[in-house]
Amino acid sequence: MKTEELIEKKIDKNKQGEVLQLSKNNKGNRNIYIESYGCQMNFSDSEIVASILSKEGFSTTKDITIADIVFVNTCSIREKAELTVRRRLEFYNSIKKEQNPKMIVGVLGCMAERLKEKFLQEEKLVDIVVGPDAYRDLPNLIKTVEDGKKAVNVILSLEETYADVSPIRIASNGITAFVSITRGCDNMCTFCVVPFTRGRERSRDPESIIKECSELFNNGYREITLLGQNVDSYLWYGGGPKKSYKKASTKEKKNSIKFAKLLEKVAKIDPRLRIRFSTSNPQDMSIDVIETIKKYKNICKYIHLPVQSGSSKILKLMNRGYNRQEYIELINNIKQRIPDCAISMDIIAGFCSENENDHQETLSLMDYVKYDFGYMFKYSERPNTPAARMQDNVTEQTKQKRLAEIIAKQQEHAFLRMKEKIGITLEVLIEGVSKRSNKHFYGRTTYNSVVIFEKKGYKPGDYVMVKIEDCTSATLKGKII
Ligand code: 5AD
Ligand code: SF4
Repeated sequence: MKTEELIEKKIDKNKQGEVLQLSKNNKGNRNIYIESYGCQMNFSDSEIVASILSKEGFSTTKDITIADIVFVNTCSIREKAELTVRRRLEFYNSIKKEQNPKMIVGVLGCMAERLKEKFLQEEKLVDIVVGPDAYRDLPNLIKTVEDGKKAVNVILSLEETYADVSPIRIASNGITAFVSITRGCDNMCTFCVVPFTRGRERSRDPESIIKECSELFNNGYREITLLGQNVDSYLWYGGGPKKSYKKASTKEKKNSIKFAKLLEKVAKIDPRLRIRFSTSNPQDMSIDVIETIKKYKNICKYIHLPVQSGSSKILKLMNRGYNRQEYIELINNIKQRIPDCAISMDIIAGFCSENENDHQETLSLMDYVKYDFGYMFKYSERPNTPAARMQDNVTEQTKQKRLAEIIAKQQEHAFLRMKEKIGITLEVLIEGVSKRSNKHFYGRTTYNSVVIFEKKGYKPGDYVMVKIEDCTSATLKGKII
């Protein structure tokens, strides 16, 4: 077997992230290979990185054997995510050693921010370290490395939103796109590393958001997900993102734009453009937002509303800013106004001092809400977070057991929610050809559920009415009518 084939095999076996390819490789250009891990915001950032570097004449490639630079856009949210990235970096270094000594290896994103110079000085795994707010500096940093030095920029910003950078959406299907509206997070949940890796929260200029969304619509996109660590705290006023809102003038306050208003502005671009948003924070979600979702047919009836725990004691220790009762009231408010609204959650099993009673409260809250989807994790202590000073005193075995119970319950509820749709006719936006059969399309309902159905002369980007006939706990199956 040729060495290239061996490397390909090795890559496939190890790869868990997503590789971004910008364009066919132009001869003479330098090639960058970018692999992304973590949340949607990180994948969006990789598209910003590709855009910044394309202006410098770089092409991205999916073929690591011809890469001049390898970037890994990293996630720090749980220890497991970091371990995966470390394995990847070791792998790139083995390729560098055996194959391509001139290849530059760089680490971007949350792990770069968390570990800073440690990567360069102690571990000697990489040549470039760049935090999430420093991507505009990448061309300079690359030059520094080409001059034979190591390069690092992990300065966090109070202002950077990359508002003027048009992401290159090569990883997308041409129908659905992500648009970031805020960066950073000020919430300080005690378990979370994000405030340290992505810095203070700032909102992006609404004009630039509307412009980007309109352009996407004009280019054939039909669904936009507005992204932020906490979209509900979006706030823009005349004074811009830097000044503190408290110091804004009365006129600035009067003209300020909060999330509900922004949502409305995006919804008004065109009724054929679907809007989603993620992530909502229960402590900040306002009735205005719920009313706006209800008012516009093209705002999807789906809210991702992480609860983390059903126990008020644990929520307090997590510094979530709401208790069990307040979360339930928010759910009631949503269901009263939008009875069919789909809701999903994040839950952490086994946070510090969680006992069996707390765990049962999480399970009973799940029974109350019956979430459509869920993302469930074992608590993973992150260095330097406030929770790292608490005792991580739930055993691994108990965490595992509780997580398994939560996942089993969620599977039941997801199946139940799917079964409720059987016999109903739903509007579906076609996203593409099903991976399993080229005679079928897949698309999504307003509730974010995936639907598989026979093609019948339509194309991706079309809306069709599909009668739901069958389901699994993950997908609906139906017929176009
Ligand atoms: N351990 C486990 N899960 C975590 N999350 C965030 N930090 C941690 C941690 N230290 C989960 C939360 C969050 C989601 C993005 O990741 O549920 O909502
Ligand atoms: Fe991971 Fe959080 Fe960073 Fe996203 S913001 S990449 S989830 S640590």
